[in-house]
Order: sequence, then structure tokens, then C-alpha cells
Amino acid sequence: MGTKQIFTIRQAVYADLSAYTDLLQRCYRHAYTDEGIGLTADCFSKDVFATDDTQRFLAKQIAESDTQKTWLAFEDDVLVGTVTRALLSDGEAEIKGLYVLPEYQGRGIGKKLYALALEFAGERDLVLDIYCHNTKGIQMYERWGWKLDTTRGEKGYFYRHWPEWPEGLQAKCQYMRLVRDKG
Ligand SMILES: CC(C)(COP(=O)(O)OP(=O)(O)OC[C@H]1O[C@@H](n2cnc3c(N)ncnc32)[C@H](O)[C@@H]1OP(=O)(O)O)[C@@H](O)C(=O)NCCC(=O)NCCS
Repeated sequence: MGTKQIFTIRQAVYADLSAYTDLLQRCYRHAYTDEGIGLTADCFSKDVFATDDTQRFLAKQIAESDTQKTWLAFEDDVLVGTVTRALLSDGEAEIKGLYVLPEYQGRGIGKKLYALALEFAGERDLVLDIYCHNTKGIQMYERWGWKLDTTRGEKGYFYRHWPEWPEGLQAKCQYMRLVRDKG
């Protein structure tokens, strides 16, 4: 019992792709399955995460570059969380892929990963996009000072379709922005 944080964080390397894929597949299926809008668990199946298209996307996300870093959180040897920070050409930074395994949530791991991404973004304003049905995630970002970014998309909203999903299935998403205090 207790709140002792015994997780460690390091940057991702290409060899993490398989574990990273498993982590995201479990997190996506848990967070985004919503039969009411047609997003069945099958939309986030292991098969969907194994396609060339998805693997290319995930490999690109963990690849380090001058502008992008991905961190992984481990508890013992188990990969339990991740975040990616990308610097954008217009002087902003983007937070992508902030995920913690359901059974490890609520213990401060997400906040620690988020703080790391923020630290490496310097004073840049931050942007992200998020599924509208992820109300818990949106509320969390709002508590942390983020707002709907009406300058992007259609007044802040857009629709996402994965090629692996049934034809015509569109999931509503929104852009959010955190304006940094430049001191
Ligand atoms: C968002 C997420 C990464 C947070 O990770 P976490 O390790 O649970 O985060 P923490 O324990 O540091 O808590 C972060 C915040 O979420 C809240 N929270 C955590 N678990 C919660 C739960 N089960 N229900 C409601 N709020 C919860 C905490 O209270 C905290 O908010 P606060 O700072 O205002 O108090 C994790 O919940 C997750 O993977 N969610 C699904 C995917 C997602 O929404 N990602 C972000 C959008 S891309």
C-alpha cells in the first residue's frame, strides 16, 4: 500500500516497438471503444494494430529526431505508460500519445509523463488533438489549463477515420491548445 512511485522513465528506442504496440492497443481499446458511435472493440483489435499502416505510424511515433521524443514509463519490467512530444515548424509543440495502462492509472504516472513532455517543450504553446468521446481526457486537460482550439479544423473540431475501420465510420475529434506563460 502507499503512494510510493517506483516507476522509471526512459526514452523509447526502435526495439520497443512490439511492447509499445501492445501498450497502445490495450490503452486505445479500453479508452476509446464506444459502441454508441460505432467504435467497437474490433476497431482497436490486435489485428488492427498489426497492419503495415498502423505499424508504420507507431514506428514513426517512437523514432527519435531533432524534433520528436517519446518516453516510456516502466514499473519493474512492465511498460505501463508513454508520451510523445513533437516540435512543430510554427514554433508550437504537440503532445501525442499520452497513455497509461488502465490498471496503473490514478497513481501519478500520467502526470509525470506529461510534465516531462512540457519541460522539453520550453516556452512553446502546446497543441494536441483528442477524441470528443474521451470526456475524462478532455476534462483532465481542461483542469490543466487547455482549451478548445477554435483556430484549427472546423471551429476546433474534425473527424478521424482509420483505414482499418468499417467504411464511413468517422470519430469526432477536437483540437486543444495550452497557451504558455512567457513570463
Ligand atoms: C490520461 C492518462 C494518461 C492519465 O494517466 P494516469 O497515470 O492515470 O494519470 P495521473 O494518475 O497522473 O492523473 C492524472 C489526472 O487524471 C485524473 N485521473 C486519473 N485516473 C482517473 C480516473 N480513473 N478517473 C478520473 N480521473 C482520473 C487524476 O485525478 C489527475 O487529475 P488532476 O491532476 O486534475 O488531479 C490515462 O488516464 C489514460 O491513459 N487515459 C486514456 C487515454 C487518454 O485519455 N489519453 C489522453 C488523451 S490522448
